[in-house]
Amino acid sequence: MITKKMEAALNEQIKEELGSAYLYLSMVGYFAHEGWDGMAGWMRVQAQEELGHAMRLFDHVVERGGRVKLHSLAEPTAKWASPLAAFQAAYKHEQHITSCIHALVELAHTEKDHAAAAMLQWFVTEQVEEEDHTMKAVQLLERMGKEGRGLVMADRELGRRATQKD
Ligand code: FEO
Repeated sequence: MITKKMEAALNEQIKEELGSAYLYLSMVGYFAHEGWDGMAGWMRVQAQEELGHAMRLFDHVVERGGRVKLHSLAEPTAKWASPLAAFQAAYKHEQHITSCIHALVELAHTEKDHAAAAMLQWFVTEQVEEEDHTMKAVQLLERMGKEGRGLVMADRELGRRATQKD
């Protein structure tokens, strides 16, 4: 059985993960509108991953005899100044998610909830990858993707993520 405190915190994190999917879907719309199909594809994969993260937490709450409570999602930003600005926002968002996960791990230890702590270890590792992927996209855009031909090449490069997953 899960404690009420842990249940509430995991329900909050379900909202964070769904909110991540919502934000990244908004970025898909932005990139697609601007004609950056490669970046739209990259973000679409990312949004799908976030739904998977939410469901991992969802299933854990259910399996532990807890009650899932879904919260309202904030309306995400719909427009960014540039593709680089959008990826910078995504990188900053992933750093925020990492701090949420670390706070959850600490709570699991305080609550002596070893099952939640074990489940959350997957997220600790995943966040290293999440930050790395978004940071590398930012670096790529900084180096070659400010405008013109370089940006077209960066779009093509980032779009490879979508075709690799398909
Ligand atoms: Fe679910 Fe991108 O962290």
